[in-house]
Amino acid sequence: MKKKWIPVVIAGALAVTALSACGKKDDGGSAGSGGGGGDLTIGVAIYKFDDTFMTGVRNAISDAANGLAKVDIVDSQNSQPTQNDKVDLFVSKKYNAMAINPVDRTAAGVIIDKAKSANIPVVFFNREPLADDMKKWDKVYYVGAKAEQSGTMEGELLVDYWKAHPEADKNKDGKIQYIMLTGEPGHQDATLRTKFSVQAIEDAGIQVEKLAEDTAMWDRVKAQDKMATFLSAHGDKIEAVLANNDDMALGAIEALKAAGYFKDNKFMPVVGVDATAPALQALSDGTLLGTVLNDAKNQGGATLKLAVALAKGETPSKDNTGFDITDGKYIWVPYKKITKDNMNDAK
Ligand code: GAL
Ligand code: CA
Repeated sequence: MKKKWIPVVIAGALAVTALSACGKKDDGGSAGSGGGGGDLTIGVAIYKFDDTFMTGVRNAISDAANGLAKVDIVDSQNSQPTQNDKVDLFVSKKYNAMAINPVDRTAAGVIIDKAKSANIPVVFFNREPLADDMKKWDKVYYVGAKAEQSGTMEGELLVDYWKAHPEADKNKDGKIQYIMLTGEPGHQDATLRTKFSVQAIEDAGIQVEKLAEDTAMWDRVKAQDKMATFLSAHGDKIEAVLANNDDMALGAIEALKAAGYFKDNKFMPVVGVDATAPALQALSDGTLLGTVLNDAKNQGGATLKLAVALAKGETPSKDNTGFDITDGKYIWVPYKKITKDNMNDAK
């Protein structure tokens, strides 16, 4: 487990006066900072560190914390019981706010109960708690992106390609024979990207035929294995691959390469979501057709600023977070379509 400490530079003195509304940080123990008693500390739990996109969000949170607060960022190792223990630790250390990326989004209710009884505000991010849980307390917020938007954009990327490339319809039946690689079951991004990507294709007047769909759990290696299996079952019948994220798209591309694609004029349109660094590389290599920017920088920045506002006892607003607050407790960061032509927008 890696801990990151960002020392308070300027905001500390100002924060002291505003601190009374929330629990004060216990400066003893493992906090290990030289800061004064008025420093803000935010406890941050990531569902697992070993996730490409969440690593980007994690880095954005620690960058945004610079000069505003200390952050104690911990790895929940993809285990909800481990994450609950981390939350207990944050509570016992009397941190000023928590930012939680739930392992299991349906477990948010338990975390909210803990936060509420300790009066420590909590910002969830990336994995959206159920609406009923969000209503449990007024110091509960969520930062994320509209999953259906990313699905729609992903579908549109494939539509654009299909319309410009009649040869993509290999069997000339007017339908796209596709493979769907899905993220973790139960994750809002997996469910909605799957649904809305296909819907966007149908809305464009193109018929689809699903050859296979399976979860690869957001994971590159798992996606490569699944895609190899799909290739042996369906071979040249496959006309497109839709993946719920870039890591899985890149895994599929590995399997396609092994099957002779991306050389000698053999191409397969593969689309993903996230616009991670390796995905941008694949765009420039001409293997990945398109992706959708899942804005780690702004999601991490919004999460941190929201947590800091709450830690100071302020009511979050555009003034103190830089982002619009929707329905009293949500910040939605927009997605954006990315292809080789506008790659710089994702850097
Ligand atoms: C999604 C992202 C995936 C994965 C997941 C983790 O938004 O597209 O790559 O990071 O979050 O919850
Ligand atoms: Ca076809």
